[in-house]
Amino acid sequence: MTTRTRSVSIDDLDSSMTIQAYLGFGKLYTPTTDQSCAWLIHNFRGCKALVEREGKQGTIGIEKLRPGDSLVQIFELPKELSKLSKVTDRLVSELKSRGFKQFLIQEEVKTLPSAAQEQAKAVAAANKLFEKVAEASPVREEAKMAVENMLDNARGGKMDTSDVLRYVNHICDSGTSEALSAMVSLKQSDQTYAHCVDVAAIFQQAYTELLNISSRKSVFKDPKELMLGAFMHDFGKSKVPKDVLDSTVRFERDSKEMNLLQSHPVFGAELLGHMGLPDYIVNMAHYHHVKMDPGMKSCYPPVTYDKVMFETKLLALVDIYQALVGKRSYKKSWTPPETVRYLGTLAGVEYEDEMYGYFVQVMGKYPKSSLVKLSDGQVGFVMNVPRDKTKLDRPQVAIAQNAAGETLEHNDLVDLTVIQDLAIIGELDAQDVFGQHALDVFCKLNVA
Ligand SMILES: [Fe+2]
Ligand SMILES: [Fe+2]
Repeated sequence: MTTRTRSVSIDDLDSSMTIQAYLGFGKLYTPTTDQSCAWLIHNFRGCKALVEREGKQGTIGIEKLRPGDSLVQIFELPKELSKLSKVTDRLVSELKSRGFKQFLIQEEVKTLPSAAQEQAKAVAAANKLFEKVAEASPVREEAKMAVENMLDNARGGKMDTSDVLRYVNHICDSGTSEALSAMVSLKQSDQTYAHCVDVAAIFQQAYTELLNISSRKSVFKDPKELMLGAFMHDFGKSKVPKDVLDSTVRFERDSKEMNLLQSHPVFGAELLGHMGLPDYIVNMAHYHHVKMDPGMKSCYPPVTYDKVMFETKLLALVDIYQALVGKRSYKKSWTPPETVRYLGTLAGVEYEDEMYGYFVQVMGKYPKSSLVKLSDGQVGFVMNVPRDKTKLDRPQVAIAQNAAGETLEHNDLVDLTVIQDLAIIGELDAQDVFGQHALDVFCKLNVA
């Protein structure tokens, strides 16, 4: 925010302005009469005036004004006269009735950051994320173990969320959820435990962004409760035997194992309900696999879609997204952009188009940390989700490899909304390109 000074007429005055000087006056003051002179001396006490007297101009204290002087300017209004400097509707109508015409005002103007400032901000944000991701790695491992312990304890009949809650607090307090969310496409996931951590981080990022871009109000008390709810969405898996849960084999439809697995939402809702967690958190556990058509095999439990809360619907998309992007032992993972596109093919079938619209807007067509190839052959990581819906395919990209396939030590941050002659021509799997070092490569990036 900065200020500027300019001359405006009485009709252009508004409450964002402060009058610095009075410049244009009506007939009553050019020249002044006995009455107008007395009024000015009384009301503008302490000000200076530029006046014309006997054909000459000069500055006087307003107390020295004489009838017959013509006012040219009143300036240096003392602080005590704020009722004559701070523009209000009342002041404007008073000045109008007295014939005042022109003013020198000061106003606050919002300055748009220059392109250079924008770029500097983006560079700082990107470098901060690389650092945070490096720091978040051990947190993710520990949180994953906390989830595993929580499920193991629940198997033994001990319902205890304190360990997981400790990580929820830590993640929220340290602002680590963005980093955890960015790690999803960089690090191998396992079936249940890291899935819960990743889903919680992505859900928090996505839901928070959704609140920013819409008029929705959060149903959660605070960000910690939001994250805890997402962490607990698969808590019902504690009632599924470990060998079924950790199996690398894909179970047949209607097999005993598949039925057990598909009961986890109901199990979860029962457990969380008994633990006294709020209804919206229970809803997330209960209905995160519910589809628009309850007759679909992938809809469990087979209930109607109107039971599913908005938050649960978003969680359901995040849940599928993480499951496809996170690595599974029995299939190759999907890249984030192809997963977003795939989810688009299910819109209107498994969930509402509107819900998918929200999802793409907050995750982007190229989610943060996706590895993409540019039209000039360079390869880089996506660093942001453009707010402009029409530019979702033009994010900022931190270049990691040049066109010759060499990993770079000095990285550029390319803003595709600015560099119009470059475009994303495809996406890559970070682990195909960098192997097990994908996460390290990301953390070592340093853009300038
Ligand atoms: Fe689930
Ligand atoms: Fe899940």
